[in-house]
Amino acid sequence: MMLPPAVEEAQVLSHLVLHNGNCNVVTSVRARAAESGARLHEQGRSRLHQKPIYHCRMPSELSVIHRTVVDRDGIASTYETIRPHIRRTPVVEVDGSDFGLDGIHLVHKLELLQHSGSFKARGAFANLLMRDIPAAGVVAASGGNHGTAVAFAAMKLKKPARIFVPEVASPTKLERIREYGADLVVTGKRYANALAASEVWAAQSGALAIHAYDQVETLLGQATVGLEFEDQSPHLDSLIVAVGGGGLIGGIAAWYSSRIKIVGVEPEAAPTLTRALEAGRPVDAEAGGIAADSLAPKRVGKLMFPIAQAHVKSVLLVSDESIREAQKAFWKVLRVVAEPGGAAAFAALLSRRYQPQAGERVGVLVCGGNSTAVDFGKTSSM
Ligand SMILES: Cc1ncc(COP(=O)(O)O)c(C=O)c1O
Repeated sequence: MMLPPAVEEAQVLSHLVLHNGNCNVVTSVRARAAESGARLHEQGRSRLHQKPIYHCRMPSELSVIHRTVVDRDGIASTYETIRPHIRRTPVVEVDGSDFGLDGIHLVHKLELLQHSGSFKARGAFANLLMRDIPAAGVVAASGGNHGTAVAFAAMKLKKPARIFVPEVASPTKLERIREYGADLVVTGKRYANALAASEVWAAQSGALAIHAYDQVETLLGQATVGLEFEDQSPHLDSLIVAVGGGGLIGGIAAWYSSRIKIVGVEPEAAPTLTRALEAGRPVDAEAGGIAADSLAPKRVGKLMFPIAQAHVKSVLLVSDESIREAQKAFWKVLRVVAEPGGAAAFAALLSRRYQPQAGERVGVLVCGGNSTAVDFGKTSSM
């Protein structure tokens, strides 16, 4: 039997939104609207300012919503949930010629100003607010920024957290994790070693594992960068995004759903998405280079991969030298201190790996700033 589109959508939603307790109401409200032939909301910008029909306002202990897909409804609803806890980071519009890139318009979103120093705070809050947190608290494995963000969110929400990081994590990140009061375990050479150790701890302790990129709530949280960027800068032609495990670009690509060109950037020394797209599935890749503590998790996530296949236009590789050049250019021209992972996207433009059209409005995500580059103790002048 053919169902009217609204009824079909209502049925899909009823299995996407699962609840403990009262939220069952939500699905039936949605279903009733569909049965009565009510038109469902148009997707798009207007949704940013609307409450989705199925969003429940409930006492906090009942407000856990488990989502199983990364779509625009889920992203908008996640944004509402995490908005009180995150910063709406600024965008800065720059004439391309300031960086020697004549004839294009640049819009940098300064997500390095996010709590904990990177976009990862969005995914961390999404997990902590949208999943059931056991008494043992949460556990995360991270090259640094995810762990820092989970530690920050756990501190704010008063939950215990244990963070496993590999030896490559930068001292700034370790310092911040400690500062936020989490238990810190430094183990193994790379992210994959820290992940394995965190899984053992999760099994032993019952703590909830918060994956850095291959978890629906993580993708939904990171996707809110795209939602916010579109609201602030609605006329972008393209958006350049650094890729590690792919939670960031996966979320953002799901938000834009091919309405603008999404371009991924990876270090030559850590080509996880490049290798996955070549192989037709996530596969292991090299995991080195100067952004190893943020962009080198060995392979991209299973959840982001089909989104990338559908909505990421291309993935470009950049050298470590060009990432350094981009960090220096950010400092010289904008007085912005980006860490290597935070400067990688811009490196693709500066090194001409990404060649924009004349007049293109290019969005660049400056996604992290946890760097040791600034040490005021060492400066001779104020
Ligand atoms: C600053 C920065 N940029 C980009 C990324 C890549 O994010 P993802 O692993 O979601 O692709 C990371 C991941 O740690 C990061 O810390």
